[in-house]
Amino acid sequence: MVDVILKTNSEQGLIKRNIYGHFSEHLGRCIYEGLWVGEDSPIPNTEGIRNDVLNALQKLHIPVLRWPGGCFADEYHWKDGVGPKSERARMINTHWGGVEENNHFGTHEFLRLCELLGTEPYISGNLGSGTVQEMQEWVEYITFDGESPMANWRKSNGREEPWKLTYFGVGNENWGCGGNMRPEYYADEYRRYATYVRNYSGNKIYKIACGPNDNNYHWMEVLMREAGRFMDGISLHYYTIPTGEWADKGQATGFGDAEWFTTLKKTLYMEELLVKHSEIMDKYDPEGRVGIIVDEWGTWYNVEPGTNPGFLYQQNTMRDAVLAGINLNIFNAHNKRVHMANLAQIVNVLQSLVLTEGDKMLLTPTYHVFDMYQVHMDAQRLELNYESPGYTFGEETIPQLSLSASRSKDGIIHVTACNLSHTDELEVVCHIESADAASVSGQILHHADYGAFNTFEQPDRIQPAEWNGITLENNKLRFVLPPASVGVVSVKG
Ligand code: AHR
Repeated sequence: MVDVILKTNSEQGLIKRNIYGHFSEHLGRCIYEGLWVGEDSPIPNTEGIRNDVLNALQKLHIPVLRWPGGCFADEYHWKDGVGPKSERARMINTHWGGVEENNHFGTHEFLRLCELLGTEPYISGNLGSGTVQEMQEWVEYITFDGESPMANWRKSNGREEPWKLTYFGVGNENWGCGGNMRPEYYADEYRRYATYVRNYSGNKIYKIACGPNDNNYHWMEVLMREAGRFMDGISLHYYTIPTGEWADKGQATGFGDAEWFTTLKKTLYMEELLVKHSEIMDKYDPEGRVGIIVDEWGTWYNVEPGTNPGFLYQQNTMRDAVLAGINLNIFNAHNKRVHMANLAQIVNVLQSLVLTEGDKMLLTPTYHVFDMYQVHMDAQRLELNYESPGYTFGEETIPQLSLSASRSKDGIIHVTACNLSHTDELEVVCHIESADAASVSGQILHHADYGAFNTFEQPDRIQPAEWNGITLENNKLRFVLPPASVGVVSVKG
Protein backbone atom coordinates (compact mmCIF):
# COMPACT_ATOMS: atom_id res chain seq x y z
CA MET A 1 0.00 0.00 0.00
CA VAL A 2 1.19 3.53 -0.71
CA ASP A 3 -0.04 6.77 0.87
CA VAL A 4 -0.26 9.79 -1.39
CA ILE A 5 -0.94 13.41 -0.40
CA LEU A 6 -2.77 15.30 -3.11
CA LYS A 7 -2.57 19.05 -2.49
CA THR A 8 -5.47 20.66 -4.28
CA ASN A 9 -4.66 24.22 -3.23
CA SER A 10 -1.14 24.19 -4.62
CA GLU A 11 -1.45 24.70 -8.34
CA GLN A 12 1.72 23.98 -10.27
CA GLY A 13 0.89 25.71 -13.55
CA LEU A 14 -0.92 24.63 -16.70
CA ILE A 15 -0.16 21.31 -18.33
CA LYS A 16 0.22 22.54 -21.88
CA ARG A 17 -2.10 20.66 -24.19
CA ASN A 18 0.73 20.30 -26.73
CA ILE A 19 2.35 17.70 -24.47
CA TYR A 20 -0.27 15.40 -26.00
CA GLY A 21 0.98 16.02 -29.54
CA HIS A 22 1.86 13.58 -32.32
CA PHE A 23 4.18 13.14 -35.26
CA SER A 24 3.48 12.12 -38.85
CA GLU A 25 6.38 11.28 -41.14
CA HIS A 26 6.78 10.15 -44.75
CA LEU A 27 8.04 6.83 -43.47
CA GLY A 28 6.75 3.39 -44.34
CA ARG A 29 2.94 3.30 -44.27
CA CYS A 30 2.40 6.32 -42.03
CA ILE A 31 1.32 8.88 -44.64
CA TYR A 32 0.50 6.65 -47.61
CA GLU A 33 -2.03 3.96 -46.55
CA GLY A 34 -2.13 5.11 -42.92
CA LEU A 35 -3.47 8.62 -43.34
CA TRP A 36 -3.73 9.21 -47.08
CA VAL A 37 -5.38 6.83 -49.52
CA GLY A 38 -6.24 9.37 -52.24
CA GLU A 39 -9.61 10.57 -53.45
CA ASP A 40 -10.08 7.60 -55.82
CA SER A 41 -9.50 4.91 -53.20
CA PRO A 42 -12.23 2.34 -52.46
CA ILE A 43 -11.41 3.00 -48.79
CA PRO A 44 -13.91 5.63 -47.62
CA ASN A 45 -12.12 8.97 -47.41
CA THR A 46 -12.53 12.70 -47.07
CA GLU A 47 -10.57 14.46 -49.79
CA GLY A 48 -8.12 11.54 -49.81
CA ILE A 49 -7.76 11.16 -46.02
CA ARG A 50 -9.11 7.83 -44.80
CA ASN A 51 -12.25 8.24 -42.69
CA ASP A 52 -11.71 5.42 -40.18
CA VAL A 53 -8.34 6.78 -39.08
CA LEU A 54 -9.60 10.36 -39.19
CA ASN A 55 -12.58 9.54 -36.96
CA ALA A 56 -10.41 7.66 -34.47
CA LEU A 57 -7.90 10.51 -34.25
CA GLN A 58 -10.58 13.18 -33.99
CA LYS A 59 -11.72 11.59 -30.72
CA LEU A 60 -8.30 12.27 -29.14
CA HIS A 61 -8.48 16.06 -29.78
CA ILE A 62 -4.85 15.99 -30.88
CA PRO A 63 -3.48 19.46 -30.10
CA VAL A 64 -0.52 19.54 -32.50
CA LEU A 65 0.80 17.37 -35.33
CA ARG A 66 4.40 17.44 -36.59
CA TRP A 67 5.21 16.84 -40.30
CA PRO A 68 6.89 15.87 -42.70
CA GLY A 69 9.74 14.31 -40.64
CA GLY A 70 12.02 13.26 -39.03
CA CYS A 71 14.97 12.48 -41.20
CA PHE A 72 12.63 12.87 -44.16
CA ALA A 73 12.28 16.60 -43.40
CA ASP A 74 15.88 17.44 -44.28
CA GLU A 75 15.49 15.89 -47.72
CA TYR A 76 12.03 17.28 -48.40
CA HIS A 77 11.60 20.02 -50.96
CA TRP A 78 8.16 21.41 -50.39
CA LYS A 79 7.73 22.81 -53.89
CA ASP A 80 7.63 19.23 -55.19
CA GLY A 81 4.44 18.69 -53.18
CA VAL A 82 2.11 21.48 -54.34
CA GLY A 83 0.13 22.03 -57.52
CA PRO A 84 -1.73 19.45 -59.66
CA LYS A 85 -0.90 15.95 -58.40
CA SER A 86 -0.23 14.61 -61.87
CA GLU A 87 2.56 17.16 -62.26
CA ARG A 88 4.20 16.67 -58.89
CA ALA A 89 7.79 15.47 -58.85
CA ARG A 90 8.53 11.88 -57.98
CA MET A 91 11.48 11.22 -55.74
CA ILE A 92 13.12 8.43 -53.82
CA ASN A 93 12.58 8.30 -50.10
CA THR A 94 16.23 7.59 -49.47
CA HIS A 95 15.98 7.38 -45.70
CA TRP A 96 13.05 5.07 -45.47
CA GLY A 97 13.13 2.02 -47.67
CA GLY A 98 14.19 3.65 -50.93
CA VAL A 99 10.60 3.66 -52.14
CA GLU A 100 9.03 6.12 -54.52
CA GLU A 101 7.54 9.26 -53.00
CA ASN A 102 4.99 10.70 -55.41
CA ASN A 103 4.39 13.85 -53.36
CA HIS A 104 0.62 13.43 -53.49
CA PHE A 105 0.51 14.32 -49.82
CA GLY A 106 2.02 17.78 -49.57
CA THR A 107 1.47 21.11 -47.87
CA HIS A 108 -2.21 21.52 -48.81
CA GLU A 109 -3.07 17.95 -47.87
CA PHE A 110 -1.27 18.15 -44.52
CA LEU A 111 -2.87 21.43 -43.58
CA ARG A 112 -6.28 20.07 -44.62
CA LEU A 113 -5.69 17.05 -42.38
CA CYS A 114 -4.93 19.44 -39.52
CA GLU A 115 -8.13 21.34 -40.19
CA LEU A 116 -10.16 18.13 -40.18
CA LEU A 117 -8.50 17.04 -36.93
CA GLY A 118 -8.81 20.47 -35.32
CA THR A 119 -5.08 20.30 -34.63
CA GLU A 120 -2.29 22.86 -34.92
CA PRO A 121 0.33 22.12 -37.57
CA TYR A 122 4.01 21.90 -36.64
CA ILE A 123 6.15 21.93 -39.78
CA SER A 124 9.80 20.84 -39.81
CA GLY A 125 11.81 22.79 -42.37
CA ASN A 126 14.74 21.51 -44.39
CA LEU A 127 18.03 22.97 -43.15
CA GLY A 128 20.19 19.94 -44.01
CA SER A 129 19.80 19.94 -47.80
CA GLY A 130 17.48 22.87 -48.49
CA THR A 131 18.21 26.55 -48.96
CA VAL A 132 17.41 29.52 -46.80
CA GLN A 133 15.28 30.86 -49.65
CA GLU A 134 13.29 27.63 -49.84
CA MET A 135 12.54 27.78 -46.13
CA GLN A 136 11.61 31.46 -46.28
CA GLU A 137 9.30 30.86 -49.23
CA TRP A 138 7.54 27.94 -47.53
CA VAL A 139 6.49 30.17 -44.65
CA GLU A 140 5.50 32.90 -47.11
CA TYR A 141 3.46 30.40 -49.17
CA ILE A 142 1.56 29.22 -46.10
CA THR A 143 1.03 32.45 -44.17
CA PHE A 144 1.27 35.52 -46.39
CA ASP A 145 -2.02 37.36 -46.80
CA GLY A 146 -1.99 39.59 -49.88
CA GLU A 147 0.01 39.87 -53.08
CA SER A 148 3.35 38.09 -53.15
CA PRO A 149 4.91 35.52 -55.47
CA MET A 150 4.34 32.67 -53.02
CA ALA A 151 0.90 33.82 -51.86
CA ASN A 152 -0.18 34.13 -55.48
CA TRP A 153 1.11 30.64 -56.22
CA ARG A 154 -0.84 29.29 -53.23
CA LYS A 155 -3.98 30.98 -54.54
CA SER A 156 -3.47 29.55 -57.99
CA ASN A 157 -3.21 26.14 -56.31
CA GLY A 158 -6.68 26.60 -54.86
CA ARG A 159 -6.17 28.15 -51.43
CA GLU A 160 -7.16 31.80 -51.23
CA GLU A 161 -6.76 32.40 -47.48
CA PRO A 162 -3.43 31.90 -45.75
CA TRP A 163 -3.23 29.25 -43.08
CA LYS A 164 -2.29 29.92 -39.48
CA LEU A 165 1.06 28.35 -38.74
CA THR A 166 2.57 28.68 -35.28
CA TYR A 167 5.19 25.94 -34.90
CA PHE A 168 8.14 25.72 -37.26
CA GLY A 169 11.23 23.53 -36.77
CA VAL A 170 14.48 24.80 -38.28
CA GLY A 171 15.98 21.44 -39.19
CA ASN A 172 15.78 17.99 -37.61
CA GLU A 173 18.54 15.92 -36.01
CA ASN A 174 21.19 18.08 -37.62
CA TRP A 175 23.76 16.27 -35.46
CA GLY A 176 22.90 13.13 -37.48
CA CYS A 177 20.67 12.51 -40.50
CA GLY A 178 20.14 16.27 -40.90
CA GLY A 179 23.73 16.99 -41.92
CA ASN A 180 26.09 15.51 -39.30
CA MET A 181 26.88 18.98 -38.02
CA ARG A 182 28.82 20.07 -34.98
CA PRO A 183 26.76 22.13 -32.53
CA GLU A 184 28.83 25.26 -33.16
CA TYR A 185 28.18 25.00 -36.90
CA TYR A 186 24.49 24.21 -36.52
CA ALA A 187 24.03 27.09 -34.05
CA ASP A 188 25.26 29.51 -36.72
CA GLU A 189 23.17 27.84 -39.42
CA TYR A 190 20.14 27.98 -37.14
CA ARG A 191 20.64 31.71 -36.61
CA ARG A 192 20.89 32.29 -40.34
CA TYR A 193 17.88 30.18 -41.38
CA ALA A 194 15.72 31.33 -38.48
CA THR A 195 16.23 34.96 -39.49
CA TYR A 196 14.21 34.31 -42.64
CA VAL A 197 11.43 32.38 -40.96
CA ARG A 198 9.30 35.49 -40.89
CA ASN A 199 6.10 36.56 -39.23
CA TYR A 200 3.81 37.53 -42.09
CA SER A 201 0.36 39.10 -41.92
CA GLY A 202 0.01 38.86 -38.15
CA ASN A 203 1.01 35.20 -38.05
CA LYS A 204 3.49 34.63 -35.22
CA ILE A 205 5.90 31.73 -35.58
CA TYR A 206 7.24 29.82 -32.57
CA LYS A 207 10.72 28.82 -33.81
CA ILE A 208 12.11 25.46 -32.75
CA ALA A 209 15.83 24.71 -32.94
CA CYS A 210 17.20 21.22 -33.34
CA GLY A 211 18.19 20.12 -29.87
CA PRO A 212 20.13 17.16 -28.56
CA ASN A 213 19.72 13.46 -28.85
CA ASP A 214 19.17 11.99 -25.36
CA ASN A 215 22.16 12.88 -23.13
CA ASN A 216 24.14 15.08 -25.49
CA TYR A 217 24.42 17.86 -22.90
CA HIS A 218 27.22 19.53 -24.87
CA TRP A 219 24.83 20.11 -27.78
CA MET A 220 22.29 21.73 -25.44
CA GLU A 221 24.97 23.91 -23.84
CA VAL A 222 26.31 25.22 -27.16
CA LEU A 223 22.87 25.81 -28.66
CA MET A 224 21.58 27.69 -25.65
CA ARG A 225 24.75 29.73 -25.37
CA GLU A 226 25.05 30.64 -29.06
CA ALA A 227 21.48 30.72 -30.27
CA GLY A 228 19.16 30.60 -27.24
CA ARG A 229 17.93 34.15 -27.73
CA PHE A 230 16.86 33.42 -31.32
CA MET A 231 14.60 30.48 -30.49
CA ASP A 232 11.30 29.81 -28.71
CA GLY A 233 11.82 26.09 -28.27
CA ILE A 234 14.52 23.46 -28.61
CA SER A 235 13.86 19.84 -29.42
CA LEU A 236 14.89 16.76 -27.46
CA HIS A 237 14.77 13.24 -28.90
CA TYR A 238 14.80 10.15 -26.76
CA TYR A 239 13.65 6.70 -27.87
CA THR A 240 13.23 3.76 -25.51
CA ILE A 241 15.11 0.81 -27.00
CA PRO A 242 14.81 -2.28 -24.76
CA THR A 243 18.30 -3.65 -25.40
CA GLY A 244 19.94 -0.27 -25.97
CA GLU A 245 21.46 -1.79 -29.15
CA TRP A 246 20.52 -0.50 -32.61
CA ALA A 247 21.48 -3.77 -34.28
CA ASP A 248 19.00 -5.80 -32.23
CA LYS A 249 16.60 -3.56 -30.36
CA GLY A 250 14.34 -6.32 -29.04
CA GLN A 251 10.93 -7.48 -30.18
CA ALA A 252 7.68 -5.57 -29.83
CA THR A 253 5.83 -8.75 -28.82
CA GLY A 254 6.71 -12.08 -27.27
CA PHE A 255 9.04 -10.54 -24.69
CA GLY A 256 9.70 -11.86 -21.18
CA ASP A 257 9.90 -10.43 -17.66
CA ALA A 258 13.47 -9.18 -18.06
CA GLU A 259 12.61 -7.18 -21.19
CA TRP A 260 9.49 -5.80 -19.52
CA PHE A 261 11.57 -4.51 -16.60
CA THR A 262 14.47 -3.18 -18.68
CA THR A 263 12.20 -1.33 -21.06
CA LEU A 264 10.44 0.51 -18.24
CA LYS A 265 13.72 1.23 -16.51
CA LYS A 266 15.07 2.74 -19.71
CA THR A 267 11.99 4.87 -20.25
CA LEU A 268 12.27 6.35 -16.75
CA TYR A 269 15.54 7.90 -17.97
CA MET A 270 13.35 10.58 -19.58
CA GLU A 271 13.05 12.14 -16.10
CA GLU A 272 16.82 12.50 -15.70
CA LEU A 273 17.15 13.91 -19.22
CA LEU A 274 14.57 16.60 -18.56
CA VAL A 275 16.13 17.53 -15.22
CA LYS A 276 19.66 17.81 -16.62
CA HIS A 277 18.75 19.58 -19.86
CA SER A 278 16.55 21.99 -17.87
CA GLU A 279 19.49 22.78 -15.60
CA ILE A 280 21.56 23.81 -18.62
CA MET A 281 18.71 25.86 -20.03
CA ASP A 282 18.21 27.59 -16.66
CA LYS A 283 21.74 29.00 -16.91
CA TYR A 284 21.03 30.78 -20.19
CA ASP A 285 17.30 31.31 -19.83
CA PRO A 286 16.53 31.75 -16.13
CA GLU A 287 13.01 33.05 -16.85
CA GLY A 288 12.13 29.77 -18.54
CA ARG A 289 11.09 31.39 -21.84
CA VAL A 290 12.48 28.68 -24.14
CA GLY A 291 10.53 25.44 -24.14
CA ILE A 292 11.73 21.86 -24.44
CA ILE A 293 9.97 20.26 -27.38
CA VAL A 294 10.23 16.47 -27.00
CA ASP A 295 9.26 16.05 -30.62
CA GLU A 296 10.30 12.41 -30.92
CA TRP A 297 9.78 9.89 -28.14
CA GLY A 298 8.42 6.39 -27.65
CA THR A 299 9.48 2.78 -28.11
CA TRP A 300 11.66 1.55 -30.95
CA TYR A 301 11.82 -2.22 -31.52
CA ASN A 302 12.93 -4.53 -34.31
CA VAL A 303 10.42 -4.36 -37.17
CA GLU A 304 7.64 -6.93 -37.31
CA PRO A 305 9.04 -10.10 -38.91
CA GLY A 306 8.51 -10.17 -42.66
CA THR A 307 8.01 -6.41 -43.03
CA ASN A 308 10.23 -3.93 -44.88
CA PRO A 309 13.12 -3.03 -42.52
CA GLY A 310 13.00 0.54 -43.83
CA PHE A 311 9.36 0.96 -42.80
CA LEU A 312 9.86 0.57 -39.01
CA TYR A 313 6.48 -1.10 -38.53
CA GLN A 314 5.98 -2.47 -35.02
CA GLN A 315 3.16 -3.87 -32.88
CA ASN A 316 2.09 -2.30 -29.62
CA THR A 317 1.31 -4.11 -26.34
CA MET A 318 0.38 -3.35 -22.75
CA ARG A 319 4.09 -2.59 -22.25
CA ASP A 320 3.74 0.35 -24.66
CA ALA A 321 0.62 1.50 -22.83
CA VAL A 322 2.33 1.58 -19.43
CA LEU A 323 5.38 3.25 -20.98
CA ALA A 324 3.20 5.93 -22.59
CA GLY A 325 1.49 6.59 -19.26
CA ILE A 326 4.83 6.92 -17.46
CA ASN A 327 6.23 9.38 -20.03
CA LEU A 328 3.09 11.51 -20.05
CA ASN A 329 3.20 11.67 -16.24
CA ILE A 330 6.85 12.78 -16.49
CA PHE A 331 6.05 15.47 -19.07
CA ASN A 332 3.19 16.73 -16.89
CA ALA A 333 5.59 17.02 -13.96
CA HIS A 334 7.92 19.16 -16.11
CA ASN A 335 5.09 21.34 -17.37
CA LYS A 336 7.09 24.54 -16.92
CA ARG A 337 9.85 23.64 -19.42
CA VAL A 338 8.12 21.05 -21.59
CA HIS A 339 6.03 23.04 -24.04
CA MET A 340 5.32 20.18 -26.40
CA ALA A 341 5.88 16.46 -26.97
CA ASN A 342 5.17 14.41 -30.10
CA LEU A 343 4.99 10.63 -29.98
CA ALA A 344 6.63 8.85 -32.94
CA GLN A 345 4.70 8.11 -35.18
CA ILE A 346 0.96 8.45 -35.29
CA VAL A 347 0.07 5.56 -37.66
CA ASN A 348 1.81 2.33 -38.75
CA VAL A 349 5.38 3.07 -37.63
CA LEU A 350 6.99 3.08 -34.15
CA GLN A 351 4.75 3.56 -31.09
CA SER A 352 1.65 4.25 -33.13
CA LEU A 353 -1.87 5.09 -32.03
CA VAL A 354 -3.44 3.31 -34.97
CA LEU A 355 -2.42 0.41 -37.21
CA THR A 356 -3.96 -0.32 -40.60
CA GLU A 357 -4.00 -3.24 -42.99
CA GLY A 358 -5.84 -2.60 -46.26
CA ASP A 359 -9.26 -1.30 -45.29
CA LYS A 360 -8.92 -2.53 -41.69
CA MET A 361 -7.84 -0.43 -38.74
CA LEU A 362 -7.16 -1.08 -35.06
CA LEU A 363 -6.53 1.12 -32.04
CA THR A 364 -3.39 0.26 -30.09
CA PRO A 365 -3.10 0.18 -26.28
CA THR A 366 -1.14 3.44 -26.61
CA TYR A 367 -4.17 5.05 -28.29
CA HIS A 368 -6.27 4.21 -25.25
CA VAL A 369 -3.75 5.81 -22.89
CA PHE A 370 -3.87 9.07 -24.86
CA ASP A 371 -7.64 8.87 -24.74
CA MET A 372 -7.68 8.39 -20.96
CA TYR A 373 -5.07 11.13 -20.36
CA GLN A 374 -6.88 13.79 -22.43
CA VAL A 375 -8.25 15.16 -19.16
CA HIS A 376 -4.85 16.68 -18.33
CA MET A 377 -4.75 18.93 -21.40
CA ASP A 378 -4.71 22.59 -20.31
CA ALA A 379 -5.49 21.54 -16.74
CA GLN A 380 -3.78 22.90 -13.62
CA ARG A 381 -1.17 20.48 -12.37
CA LEU A 382 -1.59 19.57 -8.72
CA GLU A 383 1.16 18.64 -6.31
CA LEU A 384 1.48 15.02 -5.23
CA ASN A 385 3.66 13.81 -2.37
CA TYR A 386 4.41 10.11 -2.08
CA GLU A 387 7.20 7.63 -1.89
CA SER A 388 6.71 4.85 -4.37
CA PRO A 389 7.31 1.26 -3.29
CA GLY A 390 10.18 -0.33 -5.18
CA TYR A 391 9.72 -2.77 -8.04
CA THR A 392 12.67 -5.14 -7.94
CA PHE A 393 13.86 -7.49 -10.66
CA GLY A 394 17.11 -9.33 -10.12
CA GLU A 395 19.57 -6.85 -8.64
CA GLU A 396 17.75 -3.74 -9.77
CA THR A 397 14.92 -1.67 -8.34
CA ILE A 398 12.80 1.05 -9.94
CA PRO A 399 9.67 2.80 -8.63
CA GLN A 400 6.51 0.72 -8.93
CA LEU A 401 4.14 3.69 -9.17
CA SER A 402 3.95 6.60 -11.60
CA LEU A 403 1.33 9.30 -10.88
CA SER A 404 0.09 12.65 -12.12
CA ALA A 405 -2.79 14.86 -10.97
CA SER A 406 -4.52 17.94 -12.33
CA ARG A 407 -7.68 19.99 -12.02
CA SER A 408 -9.55 20.71 -15.23
CA LYS A 409 -11.32 23.98 -15.99
CA ASP A 410 -14.64 22.50 -14.83
CA GLY A 411 -13.14 21.78 -11.39
CA ILE A 412 -12.79 18.00 -11.74
CA ILE A 413 -9.65 16.49 -10.27
CA HIS A 414 -8.00 13.76 -12.36
CA VAL A 415 -5.35 11.34 -11.24
CA THR A 416 -3.52 9.14 -13.76
CA ALA A 417 -1.61 6.15 -12.42
CA CYS A 418 0.63 3.42 -13.81
CA ASN A 419 1.65 0.23 -12.05
CA LEU A 420 5.02 -0.79 -13.44
CA SER A 421 5.18 -4.17 -11.72
CA HIS A 422 4.36 -7.12 -13.94
CA THR A 423 3.47 -9.29 -10.90
CA ASP A 424 2.10 -7.22 -8.02
CA GLU A 425 -1.04 -5.18 -7.69
CA LEU A 426 -0.77 -1.92 -5.77
CA GLU A 427 -3.23 -0.31 -3.39
CA VAL A 428 -3.08 3.49 -3.46
CA VAL A 429 -4.62 5.67 -0.75
CA CYS A 430 -4.80 9.27 -1.81
CA HIS A 431 -5.47 11.91 0.85
CA ILE A 432 -7.14 14.81 -0.89
CA GLU A 433 -6.20 17.97 1.00
CA SER A 434 -8.28 21.15 1.00
CA ALA A 435 -11.15 20.01 -1.16
CA ASP A 436 -14.53 18.44 -0.66
CA ALA A 437 -14.62 15.41 -2.87
CA ALA A 438 -18.11 14.01 -3.42
CA SER A 439 -18.02 11.38 -6.14
CA VAL A 440 -15.50 9.31 -7.99
CA SER A 441 -15.26 7.23 -11.17
CA GLY A 442 -12.47 5.75 -13.21
CA GLN A 443 -11.22 3.75 -16.16
CA ILE A 444 -8.57 1.06 -16.17
CA LEU A 445 -6.46 -0.38 -18.99
CA HIS A 446 -5.23 -3.83 -18.11
CA HIS A 447 -4.89 -7.37 -19.44
CA ALA A 448 -3.94 -10.53 -17.59
CA ASP A 449 -1.17 -10.99 -20.18
CA TYR A 450 1.22 -8.01 -20.09
CA GLY A 451 2.32 -8.85 -23.62
CA ALA A 452 -1.22 -8.70 -25.02
CA PHE A 453 -1.96 -6.60 -28.08
CA ASN A 454 -4.79 -5.87 -30.48
CA THR A 455 -4.90 -7.62 -33.84
CA PHE A 456 -7.00 -7.10 -36.93
CA GLU A 457 -8.83 -10.30 -35.98
CA GLN A 458 -9.26 -9.24 -32.34
CA PRO A 459 -9.11 -5.44 -32.37
CA ASP A 460 -10.73 -5.00 -28.93
CA ARG A 461 -8.63 -7.34 -26.85
CA ILE A 462 -7.23 -4.36 -24.98
CA GLN A 463 -9.52 -1.47 -24.29
CA PRO A 464 -10.30 0.63 -21.23
CA ALA A 465 -12.94 -0.69 -18.85
CA GLU A 466 -14.90 0.90 -16.06
CA TRP A 467 -12.72 0.76 -12.95
CA ASN A 468 -14.80 -0.82 -10.23
CA GLY A 469 -13.89 -0.78 -6.57
CA ILE A 470 -12.61 2.81 -6.28
CA THR A 471 -13.81 4.27 -3.00
CA LEU A 472 -14.01 7.77 -1.58
CA GLU A 473 -14.56 8.39 2.11
CA ASN A 474 -13.77 11.59 4.03
CA ASN A 475 -11.59 12.83 1.19
CA LYS A 476 -9.67 9.57 1.22
CA LEU A 477 -9.53 8.09 -2.27
CA ARG A 478 -8.63 4.41 -2.47
CA PHE A 479 -7.95 2.31 -5.55
CA VAL A 480 -6.09 -0.86 -6.46
CA LEU A 481 -3.97 -0.94 -9.62
CA PRO A 482 -3.64 -4.41 -11.14
CA PRO A 483 -0.14 -5.42 -12.27
CA ALA A 484 1.01 -3.79 -15.50
CA SER A 485 -1.86 -1.34 -15.77
CA VAL A 486 -2.77 2.28 -16.44
CA GLY A 487 -5.72 3.98 -14.72
CA VAL A 488 -7.44 7.35 -14.60
CA VAL A 489 -9.62 8.50 -11.70
CA SER A 490 -12.00 11.48 -11.80
CA VAL A 491 -13.00 13.13 -8.55
CA LYS A 492 -15.88 15.58 -8.52
CA GLY A 493 -16.55 18.08 -5.73
O1 AHR B 1 11.33 8.18 -36.00
C1 AHR B 1 12.26 7.67 -36.89
C2 AHR B 1 13.46 8.60 -37.05
O2 AHR B 1 14.11 8.69 -35.82
C3 AHR B 1 13.19 10.02 -37.41
O3 AHR B 1 12.97 10.20 -38.77
C4 AHR B 1 14.45 10.69 -36.98
O4 AHR B 1 14.27 12.05 -36.68
C5 AHR B 1 14.90 9.86 -35.81
O5 AHR B 1 16.23 9.48 -35.92
